[in-house]
Amino acid sequence: MLATSLVALAVLVPALTNAAAVVPRADPCAAIANQAFSVPSKALACLKSFPFNETLRQNVIANIAGVFDFYTFEDFYLDSPPPFQESTANIRAEIARINSTKFETDYDFNRAVYNFTTKLNDGHTRWFPNCYTSFQNLLPAPVVTLEENGVQSVFVAPDSTDLIPLVGTEFTDFFESIGFDWQRLAGARVLEIAGMDAYSYADLIASTESGNYLDHGVRVNSVFSSYRIVDTDFSQRFGDIGGPAFPDRDSLTFKLIPVNSTKAEVVTVPYLADYLGAPFTDQASFWTANCAANDETNGVDLKAAENQRKRQLPRRKMARASIIDIAPSNAVGLPSPFLPTLPPANGSTGVIKSFILPSKKTGVMFVGSFEGDFNQFQTDTDAAIKQFQASGLTHLLIDLTNNGGGFVCLGQFLHQYLAGNTLSVSLISSQWLTLYRL
Ligand SMILES: *[C@@H]1O[C@H](CO)[C@@H](O)[C@H](O)[C@H]1NC(C)=O
Ligand SMILES: *[C@@H]1O[C@H](CO)[C@@H](O)[C@H](O)[C@H]1NC(C)=O
Ligand SMILES: *[C@@H]1O[C@H](CO)[C@@H](O)[C@H](O)[C@H]1NC(C)=O
Ligand SMILES: *[C@@H]1O[C@H](CO)[C@@H](O)[C@H](O)[C@H]1NC(C)=O
Ligand SMILES: *[C@@H]1O[C@H](CO)[C@@H](O)[C@H](O)[C@H]1NC(C)=O
Repeated sequence: MLATSLVALAVLVPALTNAAAVVPRADPCAAIANQAFSVPSKALACLKSFPFNETLRQNVIANIAGVFDFYTFEDFYLDSPPPFQESTANIRAEIARINSTKFETDYDFNRAVYNFTTKLNDGHTRWFPNCYTSFQNLLPAPVVTLEENGVQSVFVAPDSTDLIPLVGTEFTDFFESIGFDWQRLAGARVLEIAGMDAYSYADLIASTESGNYLDHGVRVNSVFSSYRIVDTDFSQRFGDIGGPAFPDRDSLTFKLIPVNSTKAEVVTVPYLADYLGAPFTDQASFWTANCAANDETNGVDLKAAENQRKRQLPRRKMARASIIDIAPSNAVGLPSPFLPTLPPANGSTGVIKSFILPSKKTGVMFVGSFEGDFNQFQTDTDAAIKQFQASGLTHLLIDLTNNGGGFVCLGQFLHQYLAGNTLSVSLISSQWLTLYRL
């Protein structure tokens, strides 16, 4: 399609003008090449520059249909029970719809598949086309929900002034260049977003874009900015309003009351798209680096490769179930004023961070993930609980904020360890590992 029209131009134009003839049609990807950040409309223009391709659709649809054949409880989705009705979907009808819809671009097709799988609200069944999840739209005003004098409201994250600079000077320079003062928005009370009550907007995003969790309330949490563990460090997630996956919004309009003001004002906050993909210089190299199937993505018999590996290195297979959040590759640290200042308890160097609250009655275990070092997770749990017990604590808070899962056995391990099951004594030992080998 594209190639054809270029040829037509080359034939027709020279007769009319001279110099203009050799000027190639503007390449929307070349326009943003080598930039860490792009204006969303320009990023989207690059993503939408690849025409729809029926061969690719049939390949993708066949694979998706085949995965659903064995991976999802389709009957559950046909008639999801309360309180999960929001996830109700006729999976086969959706696949048929996407298989017969006329799409303008490859992006639109992939976006339709992304939307459909996202709305199943199951973090284990997602469609992430590397090609099109290569940008994250970032708002210099991520929002949080906080309680003040017993009343809950939405606010621009008060720590924005510390968080936003961590994204980098290229990010902050852009807002300076357009004269947009994001600093003064930090801590503002948000009354409306996109013309809707702020919480209604949060509900809308939780219903249509967040995905990953069957429970609506958990999705509402993911709409807001929050702390989490990436690898073994604290970081701050922008949230699904402040950091959505696609560069398809240029800005978001807030009605808010800035700190130290009593007057509500309407502010339109621009998004800036953060590039997370592989380097490229133009449309063709964007496709090659991020979209095209290659030996690592296609045509490899993974089963044969796996068997080969097994022969070389016998190793245990352990079930894993993780929510995939595309943003961690670009994680921003949690601003230092918000890092816990209490001394960490024993067993806090990995994905678990444990603390003894100043009351000396309550222990907090922030279990950031079930990924990472399988054995360390268990020894860290043991070390923290031993210290809690030695310190005579009577209360334990387990914080699972943004825990995206991981080794299924570690979830079970933690549960049984804390429940005091006699089995827990042996959980740490290799005996348990043998027992639960999958
Ligand atoms: C569609 O994609 C396939 C697979 O990459 C490719 O071989 C084919 O040339 C593409 N068709 C068009 C019309 O670009
Ligand atoms: C999608 O539609 C094509 C015909 O256009 C058909 O051959 C194919 O079997 C369909 N795929 C699925 C998974 O239904
Ligand atoms: C995907 O969902 C978004 C958000 O709800 C919507 O704006 C967009 O139009 C949808 N795209 C397709 C192709 O379904
Ligand atoms: C708000 O007012 C207080 C007290 O005057 C001052 O300390 C603070 O810096 C002001 N905050 C902002 C964001 O203007
Ligand atoms: C905490 O760890 C230190 C260093 O490994 C150890 O000496 C100490 O006994 C541990 N404390 C408790 C209560 O287990």
